[in-house]
Amino acid sequence: MPAPTPQAVLAPLTESAIFLTFRLADGDDAGSQVRDLLADLGGLRRSVGFRIPEGDLTCVAGIGARAWDRIFDRPRPAGLHPFREVVGATHRAPATPGDLLLHIRAHRLDLCFELAQLVTGRLAGAAVVEDEVHGFRSFDQRDLLGFVDGTENPEGEERRAAVLVGDEDASYAGGSYVITQKYLHDLTAWKALSVEQQELAIGRSKADDIEMPDDRKPSNCHVALTTLVDADGTEHAIVRDNMPFGRVGAGEYGTYFIGYARDPAVTERMLRRMFVGEPAGNHDRVLDFSTAVTGNLYFVPPADLLDGAADPS
Ligand code: HEM
Repeated sequence: MPAPTPQAVLAPLTESAIFLTFRLADGDDAGSQVRDLLADLGGLRRSVGFRIPEGDLTCVAGIGARAWDRIFDRPRPAGLHPFREVVGATHRAPATPGDLLLHIRAHRLDLCFELAQLVTGRLAGAAVVEDEVHGFRSFDQRDLLGFVDGTENPEGEERRAAVLVGDEDASYAGGSYVITQKYLHDLTAWKALSVEQQELAIGRSKADDIEMPDDRKPSNCHVALTTLVDADGTEHAIVRDNMPFGRVGAGEYGTYFIGYARDPAVTERMLRRMFVGEPAGNHDRVLDFSTAVTGNLYFVPPADLLDGAADPS
């Protein structure tokens, strides 16, 4: 049997992205309407993207645990469960409503917007948009804290191995799990720090994006707490496609965190280390300037499963 084709989870970062979180309406018809949309998603993407091929429009659909059984008549993927809130002594990662995620990316926002519009129209009556974020690429791929974000993402074969489900759940091989969180930054407080204090919070230099040597890197910096290495030296990676977003008039400055993983437990361990701390109480310094306001986990079925979604089993 040929290997299942993944959705565009391995696509590189683009200049623009729209993150749409939907909540399913009540009623028996909602699941089948979503199913029909999922089966047509590839075609809709081609209809918009083909006109501007250099725009590299992609769309990834993820399905939440509570919605899975309403959309598909097949068992839940092994790792799919509702996002589990993480509560530390000082900071909290909340779980918020989210049944369907669309991660739409392109080099131009107009392509993302057109597809978002078409899809949302098709879901009228079956699902409402619970959250909508328009992300943009900032200078040098920097986040709004001013640091280059994404450098240590795995590449090549390591990237595939980090995000795509394999034989461990053979009926869903080629799928992936994605965790999203919308963060709002307190830029006034962040900018009151010196550049050196900011670098100590992240664990990398700000101007040239070089990782700090271990003997200088604080144990509560972001990089130290999100690097997962087992006692035998095995490192566990995820692929992050974070994007900045904001509204200057409202003083809103954010990072949309989106992390793909072969096993959601890897991202969950990172979240625990960030919010509870390692050891407990030693939380991620970045959280003192960043508040998580949403939290969701979805399964991203392989593309073949979506294309055949009109047949629910
Ligand atoms: C406020 C939200 C966040 C911001 C602004 C942020 C920013 C950054 C920056 C600037 C880096 C260093 C450069 C790089 O390798 O990308 C980084 C690294 C990293 N972040 Fe985040 N991040 C955020 C949330 C998260 C969350 C929620 C997770 C996981 C649950 C995460 C996982 C990672 C990982 C795995 C690395 C690479 C560590 C390494 O191997 O050196 N980040 N992040």
